[in-house]
Amino acid sequence: MPHSLVTIANLSKEKILSLLDNAACFEAQPNRRLLEGHVVATLFFEPSTRTRLSFETAVNRLAGRVIGFSDAANTSTSKGETLKDTIMMVSNYADLIVMRHHLEGAARYASEVSPVPIINAGDGANQHPSQTMLDLYSIRKTQGTLEGLDICLVGDLKYGRTVHSLIMAMRHFHPHFHFVAPPELAMPEEYKIYCRQNGISFEEHTEFDSSVINNTDILYMTRVQRERFTDLMEYERVKNVYILRADMLTNTRPNMRILHPLPRVNEIANDVDACPQAYYFQQAKNGLFVREALICDCLDIEA
Ligand code: CP
Repeated sequence: MPHSLVTIANLSKEKILSLLDNAACFEAQPNRRLLEGHVVATLFFEPSTRTRLSFETAVNRLAGRVIGFSDAANTSTSKGETLKDTIMMVSNYADLIVMRHHLEGAARYASEVSPVPIINAGDGANQHPSQTMLDLYSIRKTQGTLEGLDICLVGDLKYGRTVHSLIMAMRHFHPHFHFVAPPELAMPEEYKIYCRQNGISFEEHTEFDSSVINNTDILYMTRVQRERFTDLMEYERVKNVYILRADMLTNTRPNMRILHPLPRVNEIANDVDACPQAYYFQQAKNGLFVREALICDCLDIEA
């Protein structure tokens, strides 16, 4: 049955592993005519580079067609059209809707009113499930497993939706998390409760130093999300709180890789890009293969 992808929390371990296996097949063979005759709409009410372009590339490489917008200011939303009406209209034209919206819960709401499947491409500070799938793909590819890893999440753990989705997905794989954030951007209590309820061990840190960098398999850096702050003075205070530089990477575990959902601002210095631990650009590339797998899955097309 065609179905929506709103939250990573709904995916079983078996489903996640099957999607990752399909993504690996798409990496081996990205150009296939599986979406011939299908139209996919990309509705981006918030800015995006990677997510929108990789979804659209995925559709193009699978011989489908894309409609949509990257700036809601140029749509009838600016005249007051509701999200429900927009979704009802677009579902007249498209077989699947990929949507990013600034409001938490917008994708859930859209999936409840839409006659066609919705893929949540990010809803406020809530969830970003397709990013999480490409994060899992990147972790499995670089570590050879998803089981029993030390994962260090650094930066804006309050507003960063990718870290929230990642915690939920990792519940199947017995991770040990280190949450590194200043008090203003600490992991919200609801996600710490989620960890406790799901047997996920974690430690919290405010210092970003060698004790965490040298004892992790995955160093997951995040940007401080300026667009989510109501008080820009507070953003100014914390925006450069942690900066990873190449000279901080001399004693890492040999398998350690640095991930970042991107875009980065200042939190990873440019000199890190040439280090063997840097994996964030390949991570973004993996998004294409994962999104090919997700689109086919949501449309119930055998990959
Ligand atoms: N990782 C991510 O969501 O990037 P974009 O905002 O560029 O889509």
